[in-house]
Amino acid sequence: MPGEIAIGIHDLSIASTEYVLTHATLAAQNGAPVGKYERGIGQLSMSVPALDEDIVTMAATAAAPIVERHGADRIRTVVFATETAVDQAKAAGIHVHSLLGLPSATRVVELKQACYGGAAGLQFAISLVHRDPAEQVLVIASDVSRYDLGSAGEATQGAAAVAMLVSAAPAVLRVEDPSGLFTADVMDFWRPNYRTTALVDGRESISAYLQAVEGTWKDYTERGGHPLGAFRAFCYHQPFTRMAHKAHHHLLNCCGREVDDAAVAHAVGHTTAYNAVIGNSYTASLFLALAALLDNADDLSEQAIGFLSYGSGAVAEFFAGRVVPGYRAHLRSAAHRAVVSRRHDIDYARYREIHEHAFPADGGHHPVPHETTGPFRLAGLSGHKRIYEPR
Ligand code: HMG
Repeated sequence: MPGEIAIGIHDLSIASTEYVLTHATLAAQNGAPVGKYERGIGQLSMSVPALDEDIVTMAATAAAPIVERHGADRIRTVVFATETAVDQAKAAGIHVHSLLGLPSATRVVELKQACYGGAAGLQFAISLVHRDPAEQVLVIASDVSRYDLGSAGEATQGAAAVAMLVSAAPAVLRVEDPSGLFTADVMDFWRPNYRTTALVDGRESISAYLQAVEGTWKDYTERGGHPLGAFRAFCYHQPFTRMAHKAHHHLLNCCGREVDDAAVAHAVGHTTAYNAVIGNSYTASLFLALAALLDNADDLSEQAIGFLSYGSGAVAEFFAGRVVPGYRAHLRSAAHRAVVSRRHDIDYARYREIHEHAFPADGGHHPVPHETTGPFRLAGLSGHKRIYEPR
């Protein structure tokens, strides 16, 4: 019976970019009080990709240590979730498949629904493993969040990838049934095909997110999910880290609980460590929250963790995961901290130059300067084709 098999995250690895822009630098440029960023939205800095980095190089960098540790023999599917695709037709995961030398007997597909794509990928992977518990699925969530220079959204940019190996008898997290689901047709955040930056109605997006928290929780409890008190911590999608506090505050309110800041901080505290310095990584954000929780909290063995994925537009899902005893031996905490600490600070002028960079759409040969010190790079564009290579 499918329901009897424990399936979930067997391994998890994160990657980000070469560069980082601090909110202090942004505030000095645009005249905003830095406290608005650091306390108001809970962001200290944001990852900025070098010119030779993108969703593919981050994804391959995140996934490589997983393939190195477990091999690729059981990986039959690669699910690549992103909302900042590099091509309208070809799945970005095929470039990753090639860079990592995965077997040709693999299916590779790209998924999109704003920030919700990563959680969708995880759930779809679980269904595939139910069908054949001998198979493993590599789920990758990778995004670069970009808003217009000078816009309110600019302070909530960022970039990262998370790779997860989904398998039966997982070593890190068992994902449980049921899920609470919610969809509503709202235009809170979107990016038409002709734009490279997202459009957003900031206030509307926050209230749409909170409505989705309420909607998913209602469905989750109606389907027999755990009561609120059963959870040790909650991982929320974090477009900015204060959003996790707002979301949990709202959930407690909906459940008729007394809301106090200490209870909220206890529930989401450890989950914000990476997102606060990396920024919004869209599909990857929820799983950066999980990585931060696992890397920083005391032993969580057998504890239930709540997950709330929200993707503008809007689709949301709430589900529970249970931490597997012995999980700490499988974490990559030192490597994850290095992902954050290895980035180089850039000044506003350099950030602006990168933000404004665009490849000419003429099909010519356009090499990219060597900048990244990561293992994979975008070498350039030639004949409208993206060329990737190991560094
Ligand atoms: P804004 O207008 O720049 O900021 O927009 P604000 O005036 O609303 O201030 C932000 C907070 O800072 C407020 O706190 C202020 O009080 C506080 P709040 O009232 O919200 O609790 N503040 C200060 N605190 C301390 N010291 C000070 C100070 N000054 C002000 N001196 C906004 C902020 C987040 C709306 C903007 O950055 C934005 O539009 N970002 C993009 C949209 C976004 O992230 N929405 C989140 C929900 S939608 C979502 O999560 C999906 C998404 O990830 C996309 C996807 O699904 O793909 C975006």
